[in-house]
Amino acid sequence: MDYDQVEIRDGRLVFDGCDVTVLARQYGTPLMLLSETVVRGKCAQIKRQFLERYADTRAAYAGKAFLTIGLCRILDEEGFGLDVVSGGELYTAIKAGFPAERIEFNGNNKTRAELEMAAGYGVGRIIVDQPDEIELIAEVYRTAGKRANILLRVNPAVTDTDTHAYIATGHRDSKFGIPLDEEVFWPVVEKALATEEVDLLGFHFHVGSQLFDPRSHLSALDTVLELVLAMRERYGVVIRELNVGGGIGVRYLKADRPPGFAEFLDPVMERIDAFAEQNSLRRPTVVIEPGRSVVAEAGMTLYTVGHVKRIPEGSVFVSVDGGMTDNIRPALYQAEYQAIIANKADLPTQEKVVLCGRCCESGDILIHELDIPEPSPGDIIAVFSTGAYCYAMASNYNKLLLPAVLLLKQGQAKVMVQRQSYDDLIRLEV
Ligand code: LLP
Repeated sequence: MDYDQVEIRDGRLVFDGCDVTVLARQYGTPLMLLSETVVRGKCAQIKRQFLERYADTRAAYAGKAFLTIGLCRILDEEGFGLDVVSGGELYTAIKAGFPAERIEFNGNNKTRAELEMAAGYGVGRIIVDQPDEIELIAEVYRTAGKRANILLRVNPAVTDTDTHAYIATGHRDSKFGIPLDEEVFWPVVEKALATEEVDLLGFHFHVGSQLFDPRSHLSALDTVLELVLAMRERYGVVIRELNVGGGIGVRYLKADRPPGFAEFLDPVMERIDAFAEQNSLRRPTVVIEPGRSVVAEAGMTLYTVGHVKRIPEGSVFVSVDGGMTDNIRPALYQAEYQAIIANKADLPTQEKVVLCGRCCESGDILIHELDIPEPSPGDIIAVFSTGAYCYAMASNYNKLLLPAVLLLKQGQAKVMVQRQSYDDLIRLEV
């Protein structure tokens, strides 16, 4: 098998040293596995290929991809920062004791209560996403008797982001970021410079997700670096920090060849370094916000086959015990995944099936064309690369229960998140 930490032993699939068929039996399915070895391996790659090669750089993991207290602790140990977008993500970080100064707060509609929480905890950065947001931040920080470090998330109006429209975010007509039109953008800058309670450190952009090359980042930089110059010319202000967002693509299918971190980020750094040199500016600190590229390949989801339905001259539908409730990505973005039968891992594939979930939706298809050995009820299906935006986007549709999440490390498995119970499901009902 050519996924990280995946091997076949005695015909069974082994992930990070654990026989997944044993885990499925012991903990039940659907079950999400997260390999700590892979997560730490990705962190190490980011350090080796980016943080240690370029001075004045930071990485803030984007918690929206997947966030638990346990993962916060791992990222803290790895020296990473954390990008949160809600009170809930921030609460998780606080409960984990994640260092406040390494937290960045993003989002296009942070509430007053969330900003109060951020001010109270002392988060390191607030990313201003909307033209009229500074007033609210200033009010909250004034009351807290504190000052906020802010970056302005700009909308660089890139047009050529090579990803699904739902996960492209840097185009002009987007809900994210401050538009760069003269009459909108510069008044926001002036407001920031004139507001006592905020310290404007620099700019932020995020152009999209699951990108295989940095071309959108480079075209965003063309625009944003102009702003850096204009800041110096107009106000004599030197931009100290530039956050280029996340977006680095990962491997879902065997044939996917995502870029390495250096391959993706070197051109970005070259562009920024060259700009700083040409203009005799000190290069700003460069921050990245990788989410998917840290956790996607560390994840695997296990399901049990319930029924195999063969439609004469039609498809073979293999129904499993989870679906769009634990992985909405195929239904929402036509995302494609690779899977195998974990207990028949060394048998040759012999038929094409439709892997479908159990929700009352025809669109609840996990994989439209999956080549597997002959499937039977009770087989354990393992879907690869489900660490990002699967559990994080899970729902209780049809009152299905959220799966348990196990953290694996070299043959050891421990529960990271318990499986939901029926009592959990109705706990909030009055
Ligand atoms: N920073 C900001 C401001 C973002 O909006 C995002 C993702 C990231 C960082 C992390 O991007 P990543 O490195 O994970 O690509 N649910 C979608 C993805 C939505 C991404 C939203 N923003 C999916 O399942 O494909």
